[in-house]
Amino acid sequence: MSLLVTDVGRLVSWAPDAPDSDAALVLDDGVVAWVGPSSGAPACDEVLSAEGRCVLPGFVDSHTHLVFGGDRVTEFTARLAGRPYAAGGIRTTVAATRAASTEQLLASAQRLAAEALRSGTTTLEVKSGYGLTVEDERRCLAIATSVARHTTFLGAHVVPADEEADAYTALVAGEMLDACAPLATGVDAFCEEGAFTAEQCRTVLAAGAARGLDVHVHANQLGPGGGVQLAASLGAASADHCTHLADGDVAALRDASVVAVLVPAAEFSTRSPYAPARRLLDAGVTVALATDCNPGTSYTTSMPFVVALACRELGLTPTEAVRAATAGGAAALRDASVGHLGIGARADLVVLDAPSEDYLAYRPGVDLVRHVVKEGVRVR
Ligand code: NIG
Ligand code: FE
Repeated sequence: MSLLVTDVGRLVSWAPDAPDSDAALVLDDGVVAWVGPSSGAPACDEVLSAEGRCVLPGFVDSHTHLVFGGDRVTEFTARLAGRPYAAGGIRTTVAATRAASTEQLLASAQRLAAEALRSGTTTLEVKSGYGLTVEDERRCLAIATSVARHTTFLGAHVVPADEEADAYTALVAGEMLDACAPLATGVDAFCEEGAFTAEQCRTVLAAGAARGLDVHVHANQLGPGGGVQLAASLGAASADHCTHLADGDVAALRDASVVAVLVPAAEFSTRSPYAPARRLLDAGVTVALATDCNPGTSYTTSMPFVVALACRELGLTPTEAVRAATAGGAAALRDASVGHLGIGARADLVVLDAPSEDYLAYRPGVDLVRHVVKEGVRVR
């Protein structure tokens, strides 16, 4: 089944040879088969006219924690009244996740993945990290694989109540990794005061890398810490958060080609300072934008909201923000098949209800997603 997307007023494709206005795309067999001027488009089985609107690659949300039980609205409202965020809040969600049935966890993850898709996210990464026993982590990752192509083992999220840190780290890097690696494409660890030291993270991440998993690090979220340097020394795919960076950290990310995954919705929700995105971009670091969707620090699935925040608070132009939310996310996941609309890319795209990407920042909080196409099929 082929689909012609035509009358595209503005095309953001990140493909060097594609027209950026008056464009059309042919989607065939789930991939982009042709891109060119609307006037020269070949006939297809079906036609979707963009009627002069803007078309973007589908968003790539490269950092989410979608599998969890319960919520933490009380903790959030306490923050509005001035209470600071602390890593220990994760344990509240661990208890709720362990208590939830597999059916409940699956239904919740499916609801959030559907919500993300409606707002234009066609590629998702989903982490475990709220189970923290061998069986609960395996169960959460199995659910993650049913809603996402990219799944990340985050057994090293926080040390469970009443456990000793080094003994728990050994469990994560051993038996828990053995059970979870077959269900995961990546491994992650929370390198932070109140979570894990850089050395404990190195133990887990090196064991994951030895199993062929892509390495991600929750780095420098709540304080300066050693997470970014650890990510660089391991040749990680991404260092995520990067809120508190020293100058040497920026150079380390660039020199090791580690993608900085920025999550401004978490900073919004925790009332934290925003990451130094301009310094990263100006130094030549590849930047990705993600939602970090989770019940503690960022309960949103909306990449358009993240793009708007990145423009207002991180100093990105709308075009830079959309690049980070598409091609940047793909780089963080080491998935060259998504995040762009070049020939051969997965046929994942968004038709905005607007003439350009600028409107994502100009009209924040407004649902500007008119159509979503995933693997060549219109899903909205
Ligand atoms: O990315 N930083 C660690 N993990 C999540 C927060 C998890 C939670 O508070 O439940 C994050 O912000
Ligand atoms: Fe996170």
